[in-house]
Amino acid sequence: MKVVEKIDNVRKEVKKIKESGKSIGLVPTMGCLHYGHLSLIKTSTSECAFTVVSIFVNPSQFNDPDDYKKYPRDIKRDIELLKKEKVDLVFAPSVEEMYKEKASTYVEVKGLSDILEGKFRPGHFRGVCTVVCKLFNIVQPDRAYFGWKDAQQLIIIRKMVSDLDIPVEVKGCPTVREKDGLAASSRNVFIGDKRKESLSLYKALKRIEEMILKEGIRDTSVLLKEGKGIITKYQGIELQYLEIVNMEDLTPVKKIEGKVLVLGAIKLPSVRLIDNIIIDA
Ligand code: PAJ
Repeated sequence: MKVVEKIDNVRKEVKKIKESGKSIGLVPTMGCLHYGHLSLIKTSTSECAFTVVSIFVNPSQFNDPDDYKKYPRDIKRDIELLKKEKVDLVFAPSVEEMYKEKASTYVEVKGLSDILEGKFRPGHFRGVCTVVCKLFNIVQPDRAYFGWKDAQQLIIIRKMVSDLDIPVEVKGCPTVREKDGLAASSRNVFIGDKRKESLSLYKALKRIEEMILKEGIRDTSVLLKEGKGIITKYQGIELQYLEIVNMEDLTPVKKIEGKVLVLGAIKLPSVRLIDNIIIDA
């Protein structure tokens, strides 16, 4: 497994692989790897002849400089984990390598980026799309793997790829959860003694699922009232949003028919968490 920091060196490796006709899979990450990341990587290594994992804590997607500074980083441990996964190439650039001093071009998916997460994190998805578009240009993968854990991100990236005719297949992988149901996340290290509170969002999602699938309730105002009630019962949590939306354009659904995405965000004193589930009624 090679670890490279320079774009030129990635291009050299990619050129060789392309010439040999092998397929390339890309898994973009911000490091501090956990089982969620590893499941994407395993899918890539099983489907592609050559897997590239990028590790880059992307400053342009952090709307809060403090959040960027304290984002967990552990590149040594990450590299050890990736060696075991039979990853072929790790791209771990510096900020200076990724963003030239005078760079002034951004990729923005209008509309989808301004709602839900985008409302609470202005500029976040512009940063995500810009860096992912750059990674696609650098690595030129046949397939790229993203987690449904970040459902809005995945939907926005698919729209970017379609709008800009980027020749890559975007694959969505299921959310990996810990034993108690909490979605694996690099930020979980900040939960500390607030485990019970951190699970409130997942509990609300599961209750909504039960009401739809087992009790046949289709009115989303009833479902959301119950879900929000579960979260606000806990002390010291701010419920930022809980919504039931259409899978394609993320618009709110009034009456459930077919597939919907239920997603939300909560803020604990030390960490902000997001989660979602897809329900097929
Ligand atoms: P990061 O949070 O490191 O996540 C990297 C990839 O892992 C994303 O596609 C994310 O959805 C996926 N992932 C995270 N937790 C997961 C879980 N519990 N189950 C399944 N997949 C999970 O998302 C980013 O980084 C960045 O925004 C990035 C796309 C790398 C651009 O900077």
